[in-house]
Amino acid sequence: MKEKSAQFRVIENKSLEVSGSFEIFNAKGELLKSEGPIYLCRCGLSENKPFCDGKHKNSGFTG
Ligand code: FES
Repeated sequence: MKEKSAQFRVIENKSLEVSGSFEIFNAKGELLKSEGPIYLCRCGLSENKPFCDGKHKNSGFTG
């Protein structure tokens, strides 16, 4: 098995950037991505969760 090594970076008022090597699965257990960078939604507004789709823009999200 390939060793995974991911880095996480919170982007102020935006998403969570995940880079490196990792595995992220959906609720059905299907592999979505295994390499970054990817951007995960932190604001809760994305229609493509867990990924950011840009909806945080102009939403007033602060975090
Ligand atoms: S952080 Fe970008 S849509 Fe939620």
